Amino acid sequence: MNNIKTIPLKIAGVGYCVPETVVTNDDLTKLYDTSDEWIYSRTGIKERRLVSGNESAVDLGAKAAEHAIAKSGLKAEDIDMVISASSAPPELYPAIGCRIQAHLGIPNDVPAFDITAACSGLIYALSIAKGFIGSGMYKTILLVATDNNSRLLNWEDRSASILFGDGAGAMVVTASDDGVDDIISIDIRANGAIGDLIKLPLAGKNCPLVEPNTEEPQFIEMNGKEVYKFVARVLPHYVEEMVEKAGMKAEEIDYLIPHQANLRIIQAVQERLGYSDDKVVTNIKYYGNTSAASIPLALAEGVEKGNVKLPSTAILCGFGAGMTWGGAIVRLREGIC
Ligand code: COA
Repeated sequence: MNNIKTIPLKIAGVGYCVPETVVTNDDLTKLYDTSDEWIYSRTGIKERRLVSGNESAVDLGAKAAEHAIAKSGLKAEDIDMVISASSAPPELYPAIGCRIQAHLGIPNDVPAFDITAACSGLIYALSIAKGFIGSGMYKTILLVATDNNSRLLNWEDRSASILFGDGAGAMVVTASDDGVDDIISIDIRANGAIGDLIKLPLAGKNCPLVEPNTEEPQFIEMNGKEVYKFVARVLPHYVEEMVEKAGMKAEEIDYLIPHQANLRIIQAVQERLGYSDDKVVTNIKYYGNTSAASIPLALAEGVEKGNVKLPSTAILCGFGAGMTWGGAIVRLREGIC
């Protein structure tokens, strides 16, 4: 959108929600041969929150969204689009966006839909919202990133199931009334050629009348080593370049709020930016990888806990299945959480 005059976007409110049930690394030793030491030293994760009973990504997302709307000073009636990002939804359709629209009393004729960009989902959704608000087509958009990974993991697969947790984060974005754009820069990328590195096939079987007749399993499948190698190679350089392209220096930006997938990957980005620990928001120790929810969860909880002071600026960056990745440099105003 270079050189095109667009309507500036304001991040008006953020919120998050995690399930109450805590499952520690020690708890996982009851499922398979692993240890707290193995998991923590390789990932930085100590525990994760998991949905139980009928609780789902819709419930978590609705609570996160309620908080974000309350903080924005707007009402459910003001929302004129809902975009939900999820990599592990409870159902493929209706969209989580539609479920949340109904749940929160958002007007029942506004568009609501889901996008699939896995753990980059929030950045993708924000980029879509920027286009809609910037062009004047829509004014106020609710973004909800929410995942119930735990219901789609193979709990016999110790290499993938140790990593993920459940959670939700939400953001209300609206046309800015003071001319200031809270999106200083935003960028999204994908490389489908390496799509098999992380996948969640839908279970299904052929019509009984055809041959060959196959049935697929339905679990998150991941080649952890190759994902690690790809992201460690691409992400630090990508984030550094994003800052440069925005015409900024890393030290001018207050915080790095990255996708929480692996502490060692976060540290590689941190090192590249030359940031001290207090500039980097991490909560992976307590929540694991909550997929699309991870960035807004880290942001909203960081503000709530006082680790992210307002007003400030932050680099958000994420990567995930697709493979997708993306980043944004944003302004965080007083009172958003
Ligand atoms: N506990 C104990 N041992 C385990 C284990 C577990 N939970 N999971 C795997 N192992 C074992 C393997 O069986 C293997 O044993 P072997 O050498 O006898 O065959 C050994 O540990 C090494 O396995 P490997 O998969 O090569 O481990 P790793 O060092 O690559 O670490 C990850 C695994 C998943 C922690 C790491 O690859 C990773 O973090 N990748 C990035 C994943 C990611 O970020 N995904 C989300 C993207 S959004």
